[in-house]
Amino acid sequence: MKSFINVQDLGPLDKAMAEAFEIKNDRYKYQHLGKNKTLMMIFFNNSLRTRLSTQKAAMNLGMNVIVLDVNAGAWKLETERGVIMDGDKSEHLLEAIPVMGCYCDLIGVRSFAGLTDREYDYAETVLHQFIKYSGKPVFAMETATVHPLQAFADLITIEEHKTVERPKVVLTWAPHCRALPQAVPNSFAEWMNAAEDVDLVITHPKGYELDPKFVGNACVEYDQKKAFEGADFIYAKNWSNPGVTNPADYGKITCEDRSWTVDTEHMSWTNNGKFMHCLPVRRNLIVTDDVIESKNSLVIPEAANREISCSVVLKRMLEAL
Ligand code: CP
Repeated sequence: MKSFINVQDLGPLDKAMAEAFEIKNDRYKYQHLGKNKTLMMIFFNNSLRTRLSTQKAAMNLGMNVIVLDVNAGAWKLETERGVIMDGDKSEHLLEAIPVMGCYCDLIGVRSFAGLTDREYDYAETVLHQFIKYSGKPVFAMETATVHPLQAFADLITIEEHKTVERPKVVLTWAPHCRALPQAVPNSFAEWMNAAEDVDLVITHPKGYELDPKFVGNACVEYDQKKAFEGADFIYAKNWSNPGVTNPADYGKITCEDRSWTVDTEHMSWTNNGKFMHCLPVRRNLIVTDDVIESKNSLVIPEAANREISCSVVLKRMLEAL
């Protein structure tokens, strides 16, 4: 596997899931694969789970790890070609990337959407520069439009906690005070579509339609109560306006309706549904204290499975070196 961005990069999902459970049973089974190999993790944005779980997965596989926080101690990087660099940016990404590639065997990149230019964000410009110029296999640690390590961990969590063969899984928009990217809901929808043995419903206010390439065969239901009825899993997430129905709204907050916050009444509409969120979460905006602290909340097992999803991805990449 030369890069990991979308679900297709993993090949058959049943095989990947079997590998995930194999690794969960014995996290150090493939420790020999990473001997004298170095992972470089490059963060253009903050992280808690991705940083820790990716480093842990790499250590489980016997790798060395280098972490670079671009905005904390590195030269400020210019990302556009043709710019006269007489401002505060001292180095161009087009030199920095091949230099980074010299010091490692695999590269993980976190680079969020700017949310001002839809075309630029959805072209995954920064990620593709790493793929093109680093000379090393690259994987997404949440990029402008996708967060595959999270979606893979979510799928593992659903598989572990489902009580019916074909669960109803509901991805629900919830309100937030900041404009957030669409990477998590995009990947969640993409991976649930690929899973096949899941009935996926997406619910959000009108105007918040996700890009059709991620929605796939999901049912879109604008009535949140109707969507929640009979659900086995509720996956809450805020996202800013994806600009699908009105491009001028891209990246904006066009709805602040607090009735979408997931509370105990919302959960009472479900089939004793489990609550999921990728974290970090703003309590009492996205979800109430009662729901996130309830016995049906899966937010911690979900975060724990980030180590497992990443271990499978790094293992595959090491095997392909
Ligand atoms: N869920 C997730 O990716 O968390 P971090 O942003 O803390 O890495």
